[in-house]
Amino acid sequence: MKKSFRLRSGQAAKAHSGSRESGSTKTRPAKSAWLQEQEKEEHSPDARGPRVAVAILAAGKGTRLKSQLPKVLHEVGGKPLLAHVIAAATSVVPSGDVFAIIGYEADHVRQAVGTTGVNFVLQAQQHGTGHAMMVARDALSTYDHVIVLSGDAPQITPQTIAQLLNFHLDQQAAMTLLSAELDHPTGYGRVLRKNSRSAEVAAIVEEKSASAAQKKIREINAGFYVFSVPELLTHIEKLANENPHGEYYLTDMAEVLCNQKHRVVAWKTENPIEVLGANTRAELSFIDAQMRARKCYELMAEGVTIYYPASCVIDSDVQIAADTVIEPFVQLLGKTRVGFGCRIRSYSVIRDSQIGNGALINPGSILNESRVATGAIIGPYSHLRPGSDIGEGAHIGNFVETKKARLGKGSKANHLTYLGDAEIGAGVNVGAGTITCNYDGAHKYTTVIEDRAFIGSDTTLVAPVRVGKSAYIGAASCITEDVPEESLAIARAKQVVKEGWVKNRSAPKGK
Ligand code: UD1
Ligand code: CA
Repeated sequence: MKKSFRLRSGQAAKAHSGSRESGSTKTRPAKSAWLQEQEKEEHSPDARGPRVAVAILAAGKGTRLKSQLPKVLHEVGGKPLLAHVIAAATSVVPSGDVFAIIGYEADHVRQAVGTTGVNFVLQAQQHGTGHAMMVARDALSTYDHVIVLSGDAPQITPQTIAQLLNFHLDQQAAMTLLSAELDHPTGYGRVLRKNSRSAEVAAIVEEKSASAAQKKIREINAGFYVFSVPELLTHIEKLANENPHGEYYLTDMAEVLCNQKHRVVAWKTENPIEVLGANTRAELSFIDAQMRARKCYELMAEGVTIYYPASCVIDSDVQIAADTVIEPFVQLLGKTRVGFGCRIRSYSVIRDSQIGNGALINPGSILNESRVATGAIIGPYSHLRPGSDIGEGAHIGNFVETKKARLGKGSKANHLTYLGDAEIGAGVNVGAGTITCNYDGAHKYTTVIEDRAFIGSDTTLVAPVRVGKSAYIGAASCITEDVPEESLAIARAKQVVKEGWVKNRSAPKGK
């Protein structure tokens, strides 16, 4: 009896079963809503449809990258290759049904993507993509179908995965592979169709084993598959490793299943960009550039001005609201969120930070894990280190460094200052060259400056110390004791003037 997988909602549901149209590469479905509905359906009495798992092949070393870092942890769009693939997978099935097959530097990989909630299967020795699936046998045995994704191909979309799955179900195939037509197919496995008009595939031949005629085939195996689990597990032990690498190739399952009179089909995507794998540094950089260009175009479509997108580095998870202007050579990284109507000027590098509406980040500013409230002005050349929290309309100016420092509404520290472990109220003026001495070589201490205080230039505040509301500190003071509110503290050597000293001094030698 024909089984069907009902795609529940979200963008994945827009995938037409068996359609030849490729999925758009636009935004991914809202995962939480999709999953909520999915969970609801799973607990409802009429829940039906096949059980579908996703296996992600991620155990390889990535020899061609010549790196200590496992291939799937190399980054594109600001996050590991594997994190992109997991995001696509968990948009199609719940994370509990996703199995990442890891091996090389497994602990490192697990640590890097562990928070996604997916399962891990250990392939301690990597004897090929077929062997990876043999290792996952127990994990997959309770499922009806398994979607296999490649951990090094990060541009795959949930829509394409859903289309591939529905094609597989429609075709009642034992194995369905995603193929693509490439102008430069070198390096990829080639698809050998039974005949040019048939969806049926006889075999996949790897580049290294392909004849000259087969190398001319431009239809490549993208490395994404759907298998019917019973057929896969019944026959996977038939894979042999008689090939130039001595590996068990998952691609050989096409021939194995054909020989067993099972149906093997290919579904060709019209969006080959999605299937590109990052096997070399050059491919990594190409995919990264594509992903970032697409990100910029998505942001521009949502109302963000980006003057010279090719010069900007904007990570995949960055969010920017409309009417914000991004000048050339800006980097916005990690989970950074920028509000409405901001301006981020050239050469600023902002990571994991929140920028409120209407804020201005002047050139050359560096922000890490910091928050900048509405209408604040930062830079030029400011350095906001983790835990900086700059209040509404506050100013942090030239060569000012902050760390775990909170500045209240409208406060200013405009020149040559270090504010570390500081709690600064509203309306405070911090003069040029002010330093909070927060570290005694062993411990860190807090400086508190209350509302409307005025800190004269070149003040050193030896923490722990408190400056009360509306208090004044005379310039060049070294403050070691608390200053009560509304008082003036001056802590500097008294000036000595020796009149006529120059005229009366003895002439320097030699003159
Ligand atoms: C593979 C396909 C090839 C296809 C290409 C598409 C095989 C034999 N060939 O080649 O037909 O055109 O993908 O990108 O499958 N991995 C493991 N365990 C292993 C070996 C590999 O988990 O023992 C993982 C890798 O980490 C990687 C993925 O499987 O994420 C694919 O392996 P890779 O070596 O990149 O295969 P390709 O040579 O690209
Ligand atoms: Ca690959």
